[in-house]
Amino acid sequence: MEIDVFTLFPGAFAWFEQQRHVRNALAHGHRLGYVNYRDHTPLSAGQVDDTPFGGGAGMVLRVDAVEAALRARYGCDPASLAGAGRRVIALTPGGRLLDEGIADSLATERALTLLCGRYEGFDQRVLDHFATDQLSIGRYVLAGGELAAMVVCDTVIRKLPGALGRAESAIEESFSRALGGAPEYPHYTRPAEYRGWRVPDVLLSGHHARIREWRLDESRRRDSGAGAADGSLP
Ligand code: ADE
Repeated sequence: MEIDVFTLFPGAFAWFEQQRHVRNALAHGHRLGYVNYRDHTPLSAGQVDDTPFGGGAGMVLRVDAVEAALRARYGCDPASLAGAGRRVIALTPGGRLLDEGIADSLATERALTLLCGRYEGFDQRVLDHFATDQLSIGRYVLAGGELAAMVVCDTVIRKLPGALGRAESAIEESFSRALGGAPEYPHYTRPAEYRGWRVPDVLLSGHHARIREWRLDESRRRDSGAGAADGSLP
């Protein structure tokens, strides 16, 4: 897979690129690249944003600055990218909420383009004419799309062949098909008893069928909310 992230802050991804699953994926031939809007803007002094028509606080990322960056990368009219089958995803707080199903679908793409906004967001014409999708990582507002783009990249990249150490470790995890879309079952490791808190006996039994049954039960319980008492906020 080839992922291009359009951003004003490519440096923000330095930590992300150091993560093992990302390094593994890159070593397997997947590619993660960055385009800085500011490097391609047709405006003087690196300008990429402007005040909103109609007034209001904040600045808006200009459509001509975004177009110039997309053109520089793809050598074509970015309004034609959707027709060419490329998924161009704008990160916006009001977009479709990211979930495991969307991540699964994105992981099947050959290439992805992620557009990070800043300030008050994008000029609407970016969303209307260049983006094929708008994605949100939650109903809250971040200062920019970079963290959201990293979340998208993280969940997609870990699904790519070669990203995780053990091939099966992404198969049976929270929200996977193997668990019927339910959250994952609890995990325990040594010590078997700590401060009197014992690991469930079944996990120490060596009885694989019973362990499997227990895990599926726990996963279903968490899905129904019964197992989520310790995860709830007021
Ligand atoms: N940009 C700002 N806030 C965001 C959010 N919650 N999700 C995606 N992109 C964003």
